Amino acid sequence: MNSRMPVQDRVIVALDTPSLDEAESWLRNLHGVVSFYKIGLELFTAHGWDAVNLVQKHHGRVFLDLKLHDIPNTVSRALRSVCEHGVDIVNLHALGGYEMMKMARASVEEFSKGSGKRPQLIAVTILTSHSQETVSQELGIRRKIQNEVLHLAGTARKAGLDGIVCSPKETAMIRKKFGNDFLIVTPGVRPPGSSRGDQKRIETPMKAIRVGSDYLVVGRPITQASDPKQAALAIFESISNIKS
Ligand code: C5P
Repeated sequence: MNSRMPVQDRVIVALDTPSLDEAESWLRNLHGVVSFYKIGLELFTAHGWDAVNLVQKHHGRVFLDLKLHDIPNTVSRALRSVCEHGVDIVNLHALGGYEMMKMARASVEEFSKGSGKRPQLIAVTILTSHSQETVSQELGIRRKIQNEVLHLAGTARKAGLDGIVCSPKETAMIRKKFGNDFLIVTPGVRPPGSSRGDQKRIETPMKAIRVGSDYLVVGRPITQASDPKQAALAIFESISNIKS
């Protein structure tokens, strides 16, 4: 758990845009304020490794949000390039299963040999855009979301993963069950008064930190603000004195 880390290092800004120029304008705007960025499917499918290189050129750390989900062999082989590019965090879907996660974890270790730096490998549990209704009716999962997240987190931990992605609504439960040596990254974070967009299981930054999330992933509340830097600073201010 990273409670001793400065708050500004615990907010990961999602660079969700298909434009490298727009991503660079956010990086310039947030320079000296934000140190960690998430590259997700939108930017990665448009620009691939150029997007990763861009963030690293601006001295940002990279969470590569690829949400890998395929047969074990394919996922582990895809991780070779990820390791070669020196990203800090990469993720896969826990729903890919134990064998997939275990093999991926071993590959990350192997592909990082000699580089002195291994990406942290974390598992998405249940997307924060899902509600109990969609999980039951569309995915056919019978458990309550909380129990399903707990179950998937346990499988990820058993497979040797470094942590999980979950909603801040599930953080306290996961922290209690798995202790401090398990990374919890939470999207679904919304400052009071901001639009929830397509997110369903949301909390404020203050609450997410208080319950023990290590990192908060924040996209639109910062990138779509009229002044992204001010929006980021307001979030830091709101979490600066929270004890987690
Ligand atoms: O704009 P917003 O703050 O909703 O962005 C959240 C980001 O976190 C998006 O890039 C989304 O892909 C990502 N994410 C998520 N839920 C997960 C995993 C990742 O919202 N479970």
